[in-house]
Amino acid sequence: MNRSRLAIAGGKPVRTKPLPLEFPGIHHMDQREVDAAVRVLRSRSLFRYYGIALQKEVEKLEAELARFFRVKYTIAVSSGTGALQVALSALGVGPGQEIIVPAYSWVSVAAAVVNQGAIPVLADIDDTFCLNPAEVEKCITPKTRGIILVHMSGAPGNVKEVLKIARKQRLFLLEDCAQCNGGSVGGQKVGTFGDMGIFSFQMNKNITAGEGGCVVTNDARLYRRAFAVHDLGFARDQNGRLIMNDPDLCLWGKGYRLDEVRAAILRVQLKKLPSIIERMHASKYRIRTALEKFPQVQLRKIIDKKGDTGSFLIITYHDAETAKKINLALRAEGIVTSSQGISNILMTDWGLHLYYNIPSLVNQTSVDGRGFPWTLAENAGLARDYHKGACLVADSLFERSMLIAVPSCLSEKDEDDIIRAFDKVLSALLLARTSIAAA
Ligand SMILES: Cc1ncc(COP(=O)(O)O)c(C=O)c1O
Repeated sequence: MNRSRLAIAGGKPVRTKPLPLEFPGIHHMDQREVDAAVRVLRSRSLFRYYGIALQKEVEKLEAELARFFRVKYTIAVSSGTGALQVALSALGVGPGQEIIVPAYSWVSVAAAVVNQGAIPVLADIDDTFCLNPAEVEKCITPKTRGIILVHMSGAPGNVKEVLKIARKQRLFLLEDCAQCNGGSVGGQKVGTFGDMGIFSFQMNKNITAGEGGCVVTNDARLYRRAFAVHDLGFARDQNGRLIMNDPDLCLWGKGYRLDEVRAAILRVQLKKLPSIIERMHASKYRIRTALEKFPQVQLRKIIDKKGDTGSFLIITYHDAETAKKINLALRAEGIVTSSQGISNILMTDWGLHLYYNIPSLVNQTSVDGRGFPWTLAENAGLARDYHKGACLVADSLFERSMLIAVPSCLSEKDEDDIIRAFDKVLSALLLARTSIAAA
């Protein structure tokens, strides 16, 4: 047990050098990504469908993603937000429909539903920090059309249970795997359980080209619809020419095509994904195991340890006051990243991931002057409550939990320091409790 004076009380901090920033894919970037980008630039063919010397990087990326996820169809797109909108369009989401979304996700999830003219319905989470299947069931009404399960903070949600509910109730299941790329449950990759899955390749994600995303599905019709929507609304032939006479694919395009440079970078990153995950997973579980001995710590429930990508560690305490105290003490011990990074924070500071922090959702705002989609006649009477208090388990978990990003480049010394800082702070707290109890 470490009994030295806490840095917050004037003692020497465990470390003074900031921890590395999160950005998993970035830490593994090297000359290979540079060469890939330069190869495309030299070809002067930056568009997926034609060019002076087209490299077909996007097409190759899609084939490689399909092999990696073991899924029939993939569509590379320009962002995870775009991927969500493409998937919901392919699934036929529109006014008069309720779509179940988790209390803990990201603003893009609710945004995608609202942009389709449908109404997001919040379902509470459990100690997996993902959808609680029992809460999903409670949210189902005759207007419910589908469920978006978001595999949050690096680890999979309870996808098998949620899938059972979706199948029983004839609802679609869309898996948002933006934060869990490469994660799996029982050896099957997340994103491939439901009707469709989406991924993000934005800079904070497990692999990246700065921006990017993809949509995956095993359903041929959903694939064709999504492919048309991500582009101009129509199918294309082998040579990239538009096919305008297919009545099933005369849709409205959203313009989320991916470009050749980012596809080339992502092809290199995809090859590195298993080793990126291996590094984060090893660091996370070394720290997690060390924390297990502390009775005041409650660790996030993990559905499948093997399938956890390891990018985040979530620790919950008995009450909000204890969480705050420990968080501040750990930060004083030097368990922080440089100012750009968001690590070792209380979850209440986790911005647009918490439903009640999304002002456009809470206030039901609209981009038009007439209140679309909230005021549409089709949406009258649909369930909606987005203020804090709507999801009590999430509210309590957010207040009592701390989130630590696990970069893919943590050294053994960094891990030692994190463990030593926890040991120091938690031991002091335990000691203080024991002395109060003994007094
Ligand atoms: C859960 C989740 N879904 C969707 C997205 C959107 O991805 P992008 O930033 O690529 O648009 C994000 C991005 O942070 C996310 O965390």
